[in-house]
Amino acid sequence: MRAHRLTARSVALLVVAAISLCAAAPASAQERIVGGTAVPDGKYSFMTSLRSASGSHFCGGSLISSRYVLTASHCVSGKSPSQVNVVVGRTTLSGTSGQARSVARIVMHPNYGSPVGYAHDAALLELSSDVVGIAPIRVADAADDVHETPGNSLTTAGWGTTRSGGFCCPDRMNEVQVPAVSDASCTTSYGSSMHAPSMLCAGERSKDSCQGDSGGPLFETTSTGYVQLGTVSWGRGCGSRGYPGVYGELNYSVIRNWITTNAGV
Ligand code: ARG
Repeated sequence: MRAHRLTARSVALLVVAAISLCAAAPASAQERIVGGTAVPDGKYSFMTSLRSASGSHFCGGSLISSRYVLTASHCVSGKSPSQVNVVVGRTTLSGTSGQARSVARIVMHPNYGSPVGYAHDAALLELSSDVVGIAPIRVADAADDVHETPGNSLTTAGWGTTRSGGFCCPDRMNEVQVPAVSDASCTTSYGSSMHAPSMLCAGERSKDSCQGDSGGPLFETTSTGYVQLGTVSWGRGCGSRGYPGVYGELNYSVIRNWITTNAGV
């Protein structure tokens, strides 16, 4: 009996994994954010955890103004505002620091999923009230293309699993430095799944975001502060050789103008 029940459960898990683009790939060995380091308390206070009504973390996000959190559309697709709460400025999921808010309105990008799955993977969460005293991250605009030069070192952070196929989530936020990858190279990896205008790739073998990091930021640390270039979106496994992480590309005009229109930044 026990063996049967476990088998049924394993099959169910496999089915869930197979239908989720997020979890589309087999695990490969030494993936650890994959390949990252623990974030000290208080660093990256714009980082946001999205929680279900029951309080479990399911995606990342970033505070882009006192009233708006930016995340991935695939994180909130089909959800109503009452099914999403956020915590901003907390480093450990089980901690009590930072500011918790409910969500008043979810705005998914109107072109999400078009012309290919995961294209335009961005969404805005209007909070029930302002977050006070936490500096938002600046969203990239056209002039920030320079940060996407292939090979440039970017950062991504979150509470996602530390290896492909691992279970969500470590208590403490992790971060990892990932090199930007050219659209041409990423298209070679992913073929027609890669929608170059609205997607940006970054990562290398054993350095990547992973399940549970989705919606969180890909950003650069500059002399004038942090600038967010992407939202964690998808990939084949995590940290797989030849398959970088794919991010929603925020400074693409169709995404950037939509952010300005809806969030005012
Ligand atoms: N879709 C995943 C999520 O919902 C994130 C996958 C990121 N994958 C990657 N290889 N960077 O958490």
